[in-house]
Order: sequence, then structure tokens, then C-alpha cells
Amino acid sequence: MPSRLQDLLFATTNQGKLAEFSALAMRLGLELRLLCLRDVAPLHVEEDAPTFEQNALKKARVYVEALGLPTLADDTGLCVDALDGAPGVFSARYGGVAEGVLDDAAERYRANNARLLRELSAVPAERRTAHFETAICLWVPGQAPVQVAGRVDGRILTEPRGTNGFGYDPLFEVTDLGRTLAELTREEKNACSHRARAFEALRPVLERWALS
Ligand code: IMP
Repeated sequence: MPSRLQDLLFATTNQGKLAEFSALAMRLGLELRLLCLRDVAPLHVEEDAPTFEQNALKKARVYVEALGLPTLADDTGLCVDALDGAPGVFSARYGGVAEGVLDDAAERYRANNARLLRELSAVPAERRTAHFETAICLWVPGQAPVQVAGRVDGRILTEPRGTNGFGYDPLFEVTDLGRTLAELTREEKNACSHRARAFEALRPVLERWALS
């Protein structure tokens, strides 16, 4: 199936996200040259909007305006009901360690998880419900930006379980599976994750472009 999209910039340095999106693009038969922030000069984008959708749109806009390339940008966070939706858009820096464009994330993840457990220390199991949410913006220059979202529901454990994945994965037990995201293989996580669901929501948009 021929594609109108030749170059597509995914405004991320995360290799896992790139692999996940590449797999979807391949399943759809899209002939993309997928670029990421390691292939272009990364720009600093302050992700300071109040919603995931607005942050994804802001990031896409910065790269579309700077480079003129079709751009995919995402923003994700963990929303905990007992914390009124926190850490939400602050998920990346919840533990107080600032995020850099090409930083080593392990220390940030440790600090984030430690704070999450502290904040929930007095909250009983039945009130530790949470969800991950991903907003994706696909913006082709000259066209209107398209936004989609995906989520996965679960609860926050009192101690980590599992060694796969990253970020809050070891503390997040998926409701439908009774296992944490860190106890899933990459394939299993990619079958149910917030990001995978958002990518799937993008499928009809990509297919329309491919066919037009
Ligand atoms: P980002 O917008 O994808 O960079 O995500 C923001 C933050 O949310 C990350 O720094 C992680 O702490 C967390 N996060 C995003 N996706 C996941 C995931 O799939 N599992 C666990 N944590 C995640």
C-alpha cells in the first residue's frame, strides 16, 4: 500500500516508543522513514500545559514550525484517583528530579516511585485505583493536527513487582490481568498499554492518509 508520508518525525528519544510505533506502521504497510530526536537537533519544549493533549500539541507544533516535517508527539502520565489525578502531567518529574532531553532516566524513575509510595502510604488497597493515559498528536504541515488518546486502568501496589518496563511499571497492577506492567513481556505490554491503545486509535488516521 503506497503512503503519502515519507518522513515522519517522532518527537521522542525513547527507543521503546519508536519500536512500538514502527511495528504499527509496518502492520499498516506504511512506507515511512521514521526519524526521532536523535536524528535531528532536539529543541527544548517546556511541557507545562495542564493536559496531556495540550502538551502533545505544543511539542508537535514546535517541531512542525522548526523543521517543517510531519511530526508525531506524545505525552503520557499516571493519574491516581486518591491523589486527585496526580502525578498527571507532572509524572516525569514527580520525585523532584528534573527531566533533560537526553538524560539517564533511572534516577528520575526511582525518585518518582519513592514519592508515589510516600504519598499513598496511608491509602488502603481499594482506594489505590489509577490509570495511565497517553495523548498523541500527529501534525502534518499544512493540515490540521489530529489528536488521539489511550488509557489502561489499574491500581498502585505498596511495593514494586517485576523487572521489565520502565517508570512506574513495577507499581502499576493492570486491573484486567492482576499483574504489574513490569511483570509483562514487551509484547504483552504492547497489547494492552495506554500508548498501544493510543497508537491503535491513530490507525484509521494513518490508513486514510495512506489511501488518499
Ligand atoms: P512521557 O510523556 O512518555 O515521557 O511520560 C512521562 C512520564 O510518565 C515518564 O517519565 C514516566 O515516569 C511515566 N510513564 C510514561 N509511560 C509509562 C509507562 O508505559 N510505564 C510507566 N511509566 C510511564
